[in-house]
Amino acid sequence: MPNVVVVGTQWGDEGKGKVVDVLSRKADAVVRFQGGNNAGHTLVVNGETVILHLLPSGVLREECKCVVGNGVVVDPKVLIEEMEELEARGKALRDGQLVLSRLADVIMPYHRELDILRERRLGSQKIGTTGRGIGPTYEDKVARRGIRLGDLVEPEVLRAKLEAALPDKNRMIVEWHGGEALDLEAILAEYLAYGERLGPYLADAAGLLHRIQREGGSILFEGAQGTFLDVDHGTYPYVTSSNTVAGAACAGSGVGPTDIHEVVGIVKAYTTRVGSGPFPSEADGEMDEHLRKVGHEFGATTGRPRRCGWFDAPLLRQAARVNGLTRLALTKLDVLSGLDRIPVCVAYEGYDDEFPHDLTTAVPVYEELPGWTEDITQATALEQLPEACLAYVARLQELVGVPIDVVSVGPGRDQTLVRGDLFT
Ligand code: GDP
Ligand code: IMO
Ligand code: MG
Repeated sequence: MPNVVVVGTQWGDEGKGKVVDVLSRKADAVVRFQGGNNAGHTLVVNGETVILHLLPSGVLREECKCVVGNGVVVDPKVLIEEMEELEARGKALRDGQLVLSRLADVIMPYHRELDILRERRLGSQKIGTTGRGIGPTYEDKVARRGIRLGDLVEPEVLRAKLEAALPDKNRMIVEWHGGEALDLEAILAEYLAYGERLGPYLADAAGLLHRIQREGGSILFEGAQGTFLDVDHGTYPYVTSSNTVAGAACAGSGVGPTDIHEVVGIVKAYTTRVGSGPFPSEADGEMDEHLRKVGHEFGATTGRPRRCGWFDAPLLRQAARVNGLTRLALTKLDVLSGLDRIPVCVAYEGYDDEFPHDLTTAVPVYEELPGWTEDITQATALEQLPEACLAYVARLQELVGVPIDVVSVGPGRDQTLVRGDLFT
């Protein structure tokens, strides 16, 4: 298999975890390259559900290396819990399977605290973050005062960095937000213990990926969040704090752009969003409720109800451009079964092919496509899908201009209908 980047093309939760799990069969390594445990990626294999926040979605394939790249922000406590949970379920990582970049930034307690306090202060203007400390950690990274995973095994370095950082953080927490000051010795002890636990997994992750390439292996890059949560290309300021687009796979892993061969966009057959911010094709009360109920649209990380709406073609055309998408995987098509007619946003009023820089003013133009009544969750080949269903897929492909090579008709690994050589 060539080296493949998988990205979300909407506002996250498109089913990236499921598709990465399916593709990881052909990969030597799966790499997370940005984001942190704001992500929640769900795999369903043989009826068993696994939700991953930090571990790459190749964990269920023993022969596949799982790499946490330098671009990820790591909450060590969450990572350790995730490893232990897998172990408890009899799915422990094989020796040498997990590799953590020494250069990845660490989410500290003050990052989580500040994330929550700031959101509280913003009130109705809040971003609706996951409260995991993602934004404050990336701020420190860019300000060149971050603590990296490699620092957790260097007690003197960690102490010095904490002594430099904590007084400022405590001032913000206590004086600006009325919170409680954090204790340096307690944090130091806690994080040195994490260092001891995670030390054996620390490595030169980029070097490992270069070696895999030299030996002719293939790498799968697992994006988190979605294109319109990208800090540059998304619906700023209602975005996450990292670049989520395919280009970030290179900076966040140390693999060069000429070594990326395919970019697969994951797209829901409709649209969802968690948190605040514009959503042009958001459905009205009754249909929003219907999609949430049938699609079980509740966050895999925070459990919050996801806002639901219709497929938005202009959004996808923009995602195709900023990611350089070569293929699409369409997920959750089964959720639309039973609808009489299905609205699809084909354009925004007054816009041709350019993309509005402010989505709050975008007014969708809808086309209605005929629905189907059949249950499609048992289909094992694309040809078995009802005619109206195939017509829906064909119309989306035409509107976006990128081939749809995967149609997912249920959460299970086996509920995946594929065509084209990448997936077969
Ligand atoms: P991710 O963050 O992009 O990995 O997506 P999430 O795991 O947060 O959310 C996708 C949800 O949809 C999960 O609960 C998946 O198990 C589920 N899912 C994925 N593909 C399908 C599908 O084709 N049909 C249905 N009904 N559920 C799906
Ligand atoms: P996966 O990888 C959906 C959203 C939050 C909030 C905004 C900023 O599972 O698709 P943050 O905590 O990142 O500072 O929050 O981004 N968000 C996600 N929405 N899926 C995700 O990840 C998300 N990660 C962050 O809801 O609106
Ligand atoms: Mg998710």
